[in-house]
Amino acid sequence: MTAQETLQVRVVAKRTEADGIASFELARVDGAELPPFSAGSHIDVHLPQSVGGLTRQYSLCNASHTLKDDPHRYRIAVLRDAASRGGSVAMHDSVHEGDVITISTPRNHFALHPAQRTVLLAGGIGVTPLLCMADRLAGTGADFALHYCTRSVERTAFAREIAASPLAAHTHFHFDAGAPEQKLDLPAVLAAPGADTRLYVCGPAGFIDHVVTTARALGWAQDHIHLEYFGAPAQDTSGDQGFEVRIASTGKVYPIAPDVSVVEALRGHGIDILTSCEQGVCGTCLTRVLEGEVDHRDMYLTEEEKAANEQFMPCCSRARSKLLVLDL
Ligand code: FES
Repeated sequence: MTAQETLQVRVVAKRTEADGIASFELARVDGAELPPFSAGSHIDVHLPQSVGGLTRQYSLCNASHTLKDDPHRYRIAVLRDAASRGGSVAMHDSVHEGDVITISTPRNHFALHPAQRTVLLAGGIGVTPLLCMADRLAGTGADFALHYCTRSVERTAFAREIAASPLAAHTHFHFDAGAPEQKLDLPAVLAAPGADTRLYVCGPAGFIDHVVTTARALGWAQDHIHLEYFGAPAQDTSGDQGFEVRIASTGKVYPIAPDVSVVEALRGHGIDILTSCEQGVCGTCLTRVLEGEVDHRDMYLTEEEKAANEQFMPCCSRARSKLLVLDL
């Protein structure tokens, strides 16, 4: 599926971090250092065939106060989501301390930019990349705040760890089940953005949409709002139609059935497009479009990029026209 570099790692620690959330510390089987990564990076975890063979993306949430910048460890955290397509349940139920699994090297589609002030907004398990960012920002003495929203303290991963770390002074916990005065006052948090303030938001789709809509209404510049969805929102695919794709370099035309993605259909003809999430989140499959009208369904491209109709995500997006010509 992907041509990315992979590593064999052992689960050296698995811990319960909150109700339904487990963390996994991973170290190379050969004991060597792991590749370095920047805050906001994620890895693909390739689950063994014996537990479904799925590939899932998880943000690296190493923090220097827990792993001491240990180059031998990656840490990820996984929310057990029974409604998901099985990856998180397999991680919780079938991956144990001592197991060896395959991961990709880290990639970053959610990188930190230098700024005078940084606002981090986490919804639930969306805290994972932001924890790493907060750690880096604290390490450089940067001006930042982490707002961490969860249902209850019992569902708040790393709460004790954060409270006992240098992040505590920058972190505001907001519990849905808590007292009104501690709930997130989003308009107040996002009020009067400075010219050099950056906003990073990660969590469920509804949380992100609410934050982004509020930020835009309060005058935040689009290019100062950075987001990463935790999984893709559900799509209504009931009206999907078939269409055709022409490969510009060969002129060959391939049919795309209503229930098959462009990536899957082309793969069936021996044309491999590099993919990772296959949910329109990561950006790996970005492909240029030379002709035709795209039906964008990803969370990666901005509204402006979608409107330009020059590129698309063939893992999930489709066509409004009968034919798409791809720069492949
Ligand atoms: S593979 Fe991740 S956006 Fe297409």
